[in-house]
Parts: sequence; structure tokens; C-alpha cells
Amino acid sequence: MNEPHFSDAPSEKHALAAPAPPAAPGGGQTSSRVACDEPLLGRVAAASRRQLGRSDIDVGLLGLGCWAIGGPLWQGEEAHGWGRVDDAQSIRAIHRALDLGVVLLDTADVYGAGHSESVLGRALEGRRQQVVIATKFGKTFNEFTHQLTGENASAHYVRQACEASLRRLRTDVIDLYQFHLNGHDPAHAAAVRETLEDLVQLGKIRHYGWSTDFPDGARVFAEGPHCAALQFQMNALDDAPAMVELCEQTGLLGINRGPLAMGLLTGKYRPGGQLGIDDVRGTKSPAWMKYFCDGRPNPRWLRRLEAVREILQLGGRTPVQGALAWFWARSPSVLPIPGFRTAAQVEENLGALRFGPLPPPAVTEIETLLGPDGEA
Ligand SMILES: NC(=O)c1ccc[n+]([C@@H]2O[C@H](COP(=O)([O-])OP(=O)(O)OC[C@H]3O[C@@H](n4cnc5c(N)ncnc54)[C@H](OP(=O)(O)O)[C@@H]3O)[C@@H](O)[C@H]2O)c1
Repeated sequence: MNEPHFSDAPSEKHALAAPAPPAAPGGGQTSSRVACDEPLLGRVAAASRRQLGRSDIDVGLLGLGCWAIGGPLWQGEEAHGWGRVDDAQSIRAIHRALDLGVVLLDTADVYGAGHSESVLGRALEGRRQQVVIATKFGKTFNEFTHQLTGENASAHYVRQACEASLRRLRTDVIDLYQFHLNGHDPAHAAAVRETLEDLVQLGKIRHYGWSTDFPDGARVFAEGPHCAALQFQMNALDDAPAMVELCEQTGLLGINRGPLAMGLLTGKYRPGGQLGIDDVRGTKSPAWMKYFCDGRPNPRWLRRLEAVREILQLGGRTPVQGALAWFWARSPSVLPIPGFRTAAQVEENLGALRFGPLPPPAVTEIETLLGPDGEA
């Protein structure tokens, strides 16, 4: 690929980039991580921050995805979790994120069969007012065997699931309650939406949304007065134009899962590596897993990464930071929620704020390189 031909001067219009990081000792490359306790997200200008859809709740520019910290989850022998976790390490990472100004924390009742919500509940003790909690319902599971058992969207089940999430999260209200059944029949979506409106009236939830990649059903939810967000798969290698357009038209927030292509966009996974058997990306992964296959990064997606890596690294960003900066240039209606395991990962991810959004021509160049006529 040729040298990128656009500059990366921070754009005043976005007013997003925090002050430049201090020079590294010896005057070398500056650190891409965060060296001190400054609340980076707190410094982002109000005009650039995202709101929770049509509500006036400020959710900053970067949330935190709490799937990986749930630990193991299985469907038969198929892995749906991220392998073993260290809860103390997870809680340290959450606290680091809160110190750096993260507001939106995304989890689901099913992550780790309740474990992710429980860890989050513990981590937020005394800090509940600082955050916006987003969780999900609709997949059923066994808390003891960590097995997925099915799906349920009935009003009776949803009310029960909501009470169980409130208990695990140690809170009396969920800020954003998301329907987790991606492909649910749009013809039955209005019934689920009405159950959620009832939960709003009961004061159990503030807003609701749907984690879905399909605009047809999402439009039905968007008609609900307290619908605030749609969650969908999207990243610099894997755009979702129809869902972004729907968010822009309806005023809903697009919350983006898989913003790092489940770790592939970090560039740390090479063809020779092998992920664990209990990892959703490992050898027992579900059929829908596309970024990894047979426990290794999928060569097709690695090629796409290599095609745009130089652009992502513009201005001294790490690939992760470029991947997050892509969202801020892509649309004012989207917000990435990168997953994490450690405080160091959280620091690198939050460090992306120092550089601001990618310049718009970089986003166009990525689209050209990866599009139907692109080289990857
Ligand atoms: N159906 C749904 O509603 C749904 C589905 C998927 C995800 N989600 C939500 O979206 C969130 C994000 O998606 P995701 O977790 O699947 O994928 P992701 O954010 O694309 O990737 C997260 C993983 O990348 C690695 N990573 C993160 N930061 C890193 C860094 N700075 N350096 C090196 N490695 C780093 C970590 O795993 P390793 O260290 O193990 O590589 C981390 O768990 C989830 O946590 C969840 O809240 C929702």
C-alpha cells in the first residue's frame, strides 16, 4: 500500500482530542497508554460526546464491554465464553476505566451465566451513580453448569429475568435493558417492546434497546417512546451501513459490539497461534464465529487488517487506537464498547482519545480498500 496521503492534524470541528501526551523520557515515541489518572473521557468536549439515544443521558465516547470478564459459558461442548477469568483483575480494570471517565458499561445476564453481572455489581459498589448500566435478556442459562439452555421472550420470563439482573447488579434500576435475541421475528417484536414499556412504567428500567443486526425488527423497537439504542456488530473491517443509517434517522444510539473484531484488530493474533478450547474464538467456537476459525485468526480478516493497518496507525496510534478512532469519524450516532481483561488493555483503549477521530479521508480510504473493489 502507498503511504497514506492525508494529514492527521486534530480537527477543531470534533474538538475531541485531549492535549497531546507528554514526551516520553529521552524524547522518544510517546506512550500510547495512559500514564496518570487524568479522566480522559471527562475532558472530551460536550459537542463530541454521545447521548443515550433520545434521552439526555451522556455516555461519553467509549463504553466498556463486559462479556469476556464473565468467564466460561457453554452450549453443549461449544464455547460461548472467553475462558478463565480473574475477578480481582476484572474489577481493577473496571475501576481504572471509571477513573478515566468511562460511563457506559455493557453486559448481559447470560455472560458467564450471570457471572459478568455479579462482578460488575461488586465493582460498582459505592460508584453506581457514576455509570450507565446496560444489560441484556432473552437467552436462558443454568447458573451452576454455565450452560446455555435456550431462548425466551415471554412477558413473564422477561420480568423474572429483569429481577434477577437487578439482584446480581446490586441496583434498583437498569439504565438500558437490551433484547438479546438477534434474529427474533419482527412480527413479534412489538409484544417484547410493550413488555419493556411496562418495565419502564414500573421503574425497573429507564430505557431499552435491541441487540440486533437486522433493521426490520429494529424499526419496530424504534417506535417505542423509551427505546434509546440499537446494539450491532461493527468495526473498521466490518461496517454496518444500514444499521448506522437507521440510528441516524431515528435518533437512537448505535452501540457497537466487536469493535476490535474480537481482538483480531489488535494485530496480536498471528496465523501460528492457538486459542484455548474454552474460548469462543477457540477450536470449539460456534458456527457464527467469523473473525477466527479453528482457534486461529481467519486469514481473510487478517488480510483485511493488513490492508488498512498503516491507516489505523496514523499519527502514532496503535492498531487498537486507530480502530476505535475510526468510530468517532464514522458517525456521530455510534459508540464502541471494546471488551477487556486487564487495566492495561483499558488504558490503551482509553488512550485512543488523546489522538481524536481518524481524519475523514482515512475513513473513505479504508472503505475503498475494503469495499467490493478493494484489494482485501
Ligand atoms: N449479541 C450481543 O449483544 C453481543 C455480542 C458480542 C459482544 N457484545 C458486547 O460487545 C462487547 C465488545 O465485543 P467483544 O468483547 O466481543 O469484542 P471486542 O471488543 O472486539 O474485543 C475484545 C477483546 O479484545 C482483546 N483486547 C481488548 N483491548 C485490547 C488491547 N488494548 N490490547 C490487546 N487486546 C485487547 C481482549 O481479549 P483477549 O485479551 O483475550 O484477546 C478483549 O476481550 C462485549 O464485551 C459485549 O459487551 C454483545
